[in-house]
Amino acid sequence: MGFILFFSLETWILLITFICIFVMYGHWTFGIFEKMGIPGPKPVMYWGTIARHNRVHFLDDYECAQKYERIWGVYEFRKPMLAVMDPDMLKTILVKECFTYFTNRRNFRLNGDLYDAVSLAEDDQWRRIRNILSPSFTSGHLKEMFSIMKHHSRKLTDSLQSKAHNDEVIIVKDFFGPYSIDVMASCIFSVDFDSIKNPSNPFITHANQMFKFPLLLYIFQACFPIFLPLLERLGVSLFPKSSTAFLKSVAEKVKAERNSSSQTSDDMLEHLIKCQTASENDKEKKHKGLTEHEIISQVTMFVFAGYETSAIALVFLAYSLARNPEIMKRLQREIDSTFPNKGPVEYEALMQMEYLDSVVSECLRLYPSIPRLERVAKETVKISEITIPKGMLVMVPVYALHRDPELWPEPEEFKPDRFSKENKQNINPYTYLPFGAGPRSCMGTRFALMMVKLAMVEVLQNFSFSVCKETEIPLEMDVAGFVSPVRPIKLKLKMRSISSANVDPCN
Ligand code: HEM
Repeated sequence: MGFILFFSLETWILLITFICIFVMYGHWTFGIFEKMGIPGPKPVMYWGTIARHNRVHFLDDYECAQKYERIWGVYEFRKPMLAVMDPDMLKTILVKECFTYFTNRRNFRLNGDLYDAVSLAEDDQWRRIRNILSPSFTSGHLKEMFSIMKHHSRKLTDSLQSKAHNDEVIIVKDFFGPYSIDVMASCIFSVDFDSIKNPSNPFITHANQMFKFPLLLYIFQACFPIFLPLLERLGVSLFPKSSTAFLKSVAEKVKAERNSSSQTSDDMLEHLIKCQTASENDKEKKHKGLTEHEIISQVTMFVFAGYETSAIALVFLAYSLARNPEIMKRLQREIDSTFPNKGPVEYEALMQMEYLDSVVSECLRLYPSIPRLERVAKETVKISEITIPKGMLVMVPVYALHRDPELWPEPEEFKPDRFSKENKQNINPYTYLPFGAGPRSCMGTRFALMMVKLAMVEVLQNFSFSVCKETEIPLEMDVAGFVSPVRPIKLKLKMRSISSANVDPCN
């Protein structure tokens, strides 16, 4: 009683009003899918459907896909997301008629200094930057980068040597992570961090931090989007500032050295420098070139976009092969016949290896590094009898799509023959999206495939992977954005004998 009297009537009215607004605000936007006639799990206040049994978001997609078939609605905190798995709708949204309505991804707005990176840019700015960057990924450029990659793949196999000799259990990412980051840094701005030898160097530490969004900030901005403009003005960023600043400082230093000397290079930075406009305000040239700030943002984002995704792909590839020794042996036979006597790996021959391509494709089906694609509707648009309102976030549950039993019989099984030359023709391209699709798809697809294939071929020329008692089967998946295991994947390596390449029919 004394407690009630402690506050005045006005204070009580204010407090109750505040609580009512808080509760109402928490529910606001829920119900939109009911109005649209779209099924989906029931949201709870503020959390939406995200906290359902504390699930990993892409595993939740998988469960929803089984329950609601090809379309459903979820709420990431208060943000409604229309999940679309229907291949015809995906074609319309990602590639064909409606791409102009779905050009952009979700913009968290708290992008810090990376606001003009190609993956975050929007509309005309995105179009201009993407057009300028595209020539960096032509076959000619990729071939030039192949020799840089080979330098690092050799170091990778050297570093695995002692582990195999000593019959040690390896944490697979400790090898493929440094390989991936060294390839990215060398191909993008010709800096060799030699992370394979120095795995604790700051470059790799910062790259690992980059996509670890601060959880509380993420929840806050998602629950209270009205505060976004204020947070943005205060310079708050979801990307850890120290990590962006570190990488940007490396890129700036390299660029300044290039500017002050006549030294040139074949890396991506050099290509972008050639596209630099005279000044930030040179409006006439701006539509053709990049500003200083944009150049630094692109190279920074390339490193981050390519490092983790490619390292994850390699880690899951090693894991899948270790669990499927027959498939690994068949792949080794293809490798040995393409490059006899552990001969040097060559670009053309590598890219034409059919079984290797099937194995990598199947691995990316089971473990797509990026488990969801996103697009935002710029206008209200009707697709396949569904009216998608302006501002609605459309999400493509790639992980669930890749494990749809109607599209992929025995979806949990690792079966590279699904992607054999004959079977490949029957795959609807909108049912297999490890690199996305359409004008906004991954820019580094061919680069990534080359880097992954090269490393795996050189490693398998010399070693075989096997599971051991430390290998976790099945894996527990992490809640973080990428498809990755909670605990590191551990495997054993066995040295292949010099002659095994061509003589041992069982190997
Ligand atoms: C196995 C490795 C990789 C995978 C699985 C992967 C996957 C993806 C996916 C799924 C997207 C989104 C596509 C969409 O929304 O439709 C994407 C975007 C992107 N990726 Fe990759 N990626 C990989 C490696 C790389 C590499 C090595 C680079 C750079 C050298 C790169 C650069 C980019 C860029 C710049 C974008 C944004 C494109 C845009 O917004 O226009 N990626 N990637």
